[in-house]
This record gives sequence, C-alpha cells and structure tokens, in this order.
Amino acid sequence: MSMEMSKPVPRPGILDIAAYVPGKEHAPGVARVFKLSSNETPFGASPKAIEAFRAAGEHLERYPDGQATELRQAIADIHGLNTANILCGNGSDELLGLLCHVYLGAGDEGIITEHGFLIYRIQILAAGGTPVTVKEKDRTVDVDAILAAVTERTKIVFIANPANPTGTYVPVNEIRRLQAGLPKHVILVLDAAYAEYVRRNDYEAGLELVSSNPNVVMTRTFSKIYGLAALRVGWMYGPADVVDALNRVRGPFNMNAAAIAAGAAAIRDQAFTQKAVAHNTLWIEKVTKAFESIGLEVTPSVANFVLVHFPDVEGKRAADADAFLTSRGYILRAVRAYGFPNSLRMSIGTEEANLGVIAALTEFMGRKA
Ligand SMILES: Cc1ncc(COP(=O)(O)O)c(C=O)c1O
Repeated sequence: MSMEMSKPVPRPGILDIAAYVPGKEHAPGVARVFKLSSNETPFGASPKAIEAFRAAGEHLERYPDGQATELRQAIADIHGLNTANILCGNGSDELLGLLCHVYLGAGDEGIITEHGFLIYRIQILAAGGTPVTVKEKDRTVDVDAILAAVTERTKIVFIANPANPTGTYVPVNEIRRLQAGLPKHVILVLDAAYAEYVRRNDYEAGLELVSSNPNVVMTRTFSKIYGLAALRVGWMYGPADVVDALNRVRGPFNMNAAAIAAGAAAIRDQAFTQKAVAHNTLWIEKVTKAFESIGLEVTPSVANFVLVHFPDVEGKRAADADAFLTSRGYILRAVRAYGFPNSLRMSIGTEEANLGVIAALTEFMGRKA
C-alpha cells in the first residue's frame, strides 16, 4: 500500500510543468492596440465561416456530431485525403496531448528541440514521460541531433515545420532522412501549424510522408491562416491505427458544433485563404528587409511571423524594445521561455500595423540609450 498523504498529490512530473503563458493582449493606457503576439491572421475568418458559426447558434441544445463528419469531409476534399485518416481536435494542442497520452508512459522519452513549441514538453510531462531536448543548428531543427538522441526508451519525436518561434523549416528530403533513421515504433509528429504560409519548393507539410509510412502523423490548425483561433479547431492526418487509438481516448464530443461548421466553411473558401497568403508573402519580405536596414538581425522566416534579435547594448535590448513598442500599442511576443532572452517575435499584421512597428523600431534604434 502506498504511503498515506495529507492531501491529494499529482503524479510525478506534473509539478515540473510550467503552465503555458499565452501572448500578451493589452497595452495599458494605449487607445489603439495591434496584437502581434500570437500569430493570428490580420484578415479574421472567412465571412462564410462567420455565417456558419452564426447558424450553429440556432441549435445549441443539440449535441454535436461526435465524428465531426462535415469538417473531416471538407478537409478530405480540399487536401485529397481519405476521411478515415483524419481526426479533428479542440485545437491541434488537444491532438498533441492525445498523442502523448496514447503513445507515452512512465519512463518513456519524447524528443523535442532546443527552441521547439512549449506545448510538446508540457504534454510529454503530463503523460508521465521524460522530455529529451536536443540542440538546433542555426535556429533550425537538426535531424542528426535528433537521431543521435534516440534511445530504446524513445517513443515520440515532435518537430514543428515550419518551427515556432524561429520561422525556419526543414526540407522534405531531411524529414525523409529523419523518418528513415527512426526505429519503426517511434512516432514522428510533424506539426505543420504554419504550412499554408510556406512558399518553398523543397517543403512538404507531411501529407506524402504520412501516406507512405506507418509511424508519421501530421497535425494542422485552423487557428492561424483560417482565423478560427477562438473556436479551437485542429486536425491530424495519420495512419488508420493511430487515428483509431486516439479515437478511443478523446472526449466523444471533443469538437463543438460551431467549430465543425465554421471550420468546414473556412477551409472550403480557398479564395479567401489565398489573399492571406499573398499578403503574408509580401510583408514577410518587407518587414525583414526594413528591420535589417535599421541594424536588427532577423531569422529568415517562411511562416507568418519573424523572430527579431536585438543588440546586447544598454537600452536597446529586447525588453527595452518590448516596453517601447507596447507603449505605442504594438504588442509583440517575448520569447525568453523559448531560449531567446534578447529577441521578440512579431506576427505579420495589417499593412498599418506592420508599417507602425517598422516606424516605431526605427525610432527605437535611432534614439540615444
Ligand atoms: C507550432 C504550433 N503548433 C500548434 C499550435 C497550436 O495550435 P492550436 O490553436 O490549433 O491549438 C501553435 C499555436 O501557436 C503553434 O505555433
């Protein structure tokens, strides 16, 4: 019998978790605020998705479709997939958690990378596993470092491609090499939350890798380009037996009716999505060049945000820039928790927001310390 405790005690690992801290939303005392801290789209959701959301409000007394059929069908149609390989989640965060709970147990290891998305570590610990963090190279996921960290206890590998908060990506031939080098029972999670934004010939979100391998899954989100962060819509494309295992564990109604309806309408409105991609492609380049021209280092990004590195000079550090920008209503993301104590991440916003940040940072860099 276990020792008697004076109060309920969480399982080992739970209290090692540092709770996720979302991006700031407020700039106290500033009338107009531009929130560029959570990689949300400046375009909002498609009007068709908003209409579907409103219509879902007519019947709040009904349970949603536990299979999210309408949404899975829409995803399958747009991407040319079989619905049997698609599982939807309450944000992709839920799917990342389910993968850990299903494939990891006490003593098992999950590999994550130096600047990787913080949810992976949280979910590995929550499942009772041990996170093993490997170095990145030039702020980019390093396939060799991951392969070198594999042990007989490894059960899962998480990479975001493109990565957050760096905005860098791993080309498809490198992902193939990673898959080929992993033991067959290790599940490789390709988190492609920003895939829609990428414009590179050597990038592949994961559709092909999942189709041809039994140990690869891809997760996607509607929180970024589809503008449905508030509704929590994510999906996974994976082998049928992985989908089956997760289906046994998830809540029976994990997707709410509004999320199902709005998600389906959003993904079918690809004309709306293309506008968002074009805007992003234009502004990623403009913002990067503008910041470089005022002496800031920017990590080249293929996503909808840029990681900006500040000089290690009194009065010019990231914390100083953060305070200066916030006082003008521009909220960026501090990324100390990701291993970047002197950098800020800026999501691409409207033209007005982007020009505003450029003007403010130009003033910040030019002023005396
Ligand atoms: C790499 C990455 N994965 C997943 C997510 C979470 O997406 P969702 O809103 O679908 O839970 C984010 C959101 O910030 C992200 O940056």
